[in-house]
Amino acid sequence: MRPRSIRGTALAAALCVLASAPLAHPALAAPGKPGDPRHSAGAAGIGDPYFPAQGNGGFDVKHYDVAFSYDPATKRMDATTTITATATQDLDRFNLDFRGPKITDLNVDRHRASFRRDGQELVVTPRLKLKNRKSFTVVVKYAGTPPVITDPDGSIEGWVPTDDGAFVPGEPQGTPAWIPSNDHPTDKATFTFHATVPEGVTAVGNGQLLSQKTRKGRTTFVWDSTEPMATYLATVTIGKFKVATSKTPGGIPVYTAVDPALATQSAAVVARIPDIIGYFTSLFGPYPFASAGAIVDRAPNVGYALESQTKPIFSSAPSLSTMAHEIAHQWYGDSVSPKRWSDIWLNEGFATYAQWLWTEHNGGATAQQTFDSSDNYGRDAAAPFWQTVTADPGTADLFGDVPYNRGAMTLHALRGKIGDTAFFKLVKDWAAKHKYGNVSTADFIHQASSVSGKNLKTFFDVWLYRKGKPTTW
Ligand code: ARG
Ligand code: ZN
Repeated sequence: MRPRSIRGTALAAALCVLASAPLAHPALAAPGKPGDPRHSAGAAGIGDPYFPAQGNGGFDVKHYDVAFSYDPATKRMDATTTITATATQDLDRFNLDFRGPKITDLNVDRHRASFRRDGQELVVTPRLKLKNRKSFTVVVKYAGTPPVITDPDGSIEGWVPTDDGAFVPGEPQGTPAWIPSNDHPTDKATFTFHATVPEGVTAVGNGQLLSQKTRKGRTTFVWDSTEPMATYLATVTIGKFKVATSKTPGGIPVYTAVDPALATQSAAVVARIPDIIGYFTSLFGPYPFASAGAIVDRAPNVGYALESQTKPIFSSAPSLSTMAHEIAHQWYGDSVSPKRWSDIWLNEGFATYAQWLWTEHNGGATAQQTFDSSDNYGRDAAAPFWQTVTADPGTADLFGDVPYNRGAMTLHALRGKIGDTAFFKLVKDWAAKHKYGNVSTADFIHQASSVSGKNLKTFFDVWLYRKGKPTTW
């Protein structure tokens, strides 16, 4: 869920993709040797206009193994991250995104590599050049306090210390606070976390708990995220938690960690997780991951919730509707993720519409009533709300009302336009076809048109690309 209306200045979106075309005369040197002109630097960004420095070119990450200890009292982290990646070009240099503490050692394929840091870019020059299509391993050791990151909308993310640990949201750019990474939703990877914390403190990561062992007053939690995950959905949130486990009706294990101070207040909502998953499974198709759950923490300075994969994180006790929103994201956002940040309505519009559907199913307002309400279509035509473009809200309004509410209105209007049968087939097919993948608004328009057999160009133009309150569609 979005933060309570926090606004900031938009980032100037200057593209800074480095040229990476191979030079001529490849016969001058053997591949992999210094001076080989066929090797070049990977691009410093993936080319997303909203966050030009995000992601990197020249490789594709397969797995992150993140091993660290963290002491809530001193806020000190000692970490070793091992990245397994495949080169997508011959490389003599590549970048990672990293905003974390001091690097003490960096190896590529077991050889010490040289590196320099430039803002969020970690520029790595391996001793031996990397060949296209070959796998390579990067080991980064670092220690210190990971930073809190402020977003263009003024909200905070990254590594946010709490009274008893740390709250760790990563959307849209917080994960490099604690993991050197290829930080763009288009490079999904599997993750393993080994988190060591003082005994009595719990470290809760994405995926399944493989082991939990206490030795000499410290407990190591090993979490395994076996399905591909976008970096922004990674978390290891740390604190004193009341842990409970259960199963959904379909047999998916549910792990919940709740701050004891919020236990009473959030019990009824947390208890509905299996029901919500059951209802969304009936609408959207199978739950996409091997595990589920939630982390309810006290991080008042964060003020929003995030759909961290398999375990959404809440910075305060969630409402039932917010819980439904974050669970819906597991299908739309987490399994099916955007290709570009400007496509954020495909996350937030879907999760918000799912919230409307859940509310109706749970005996509250109907989706039509929510559509008509003063938060939505009932807004005055002169309201500034109608002046943001749904499919291109800009970085300061990425998590503003428009991608959420106008996004959800778009889906409700589409349902009216193509009928329930085509609409619910579309949202189910969308989740199935793009499972663990990345999508654009154009992909959605294409799929909606093909499922419904209708020409929807004007419809989507009016709802997604034009300013102003739609009147006919
Ligand atoms: N995706 C989250 C949600 O709707 C909100 C994330 C807000 N992040 C931010 N940096 N403002 O559940
Ligand atoms: Zn959301």
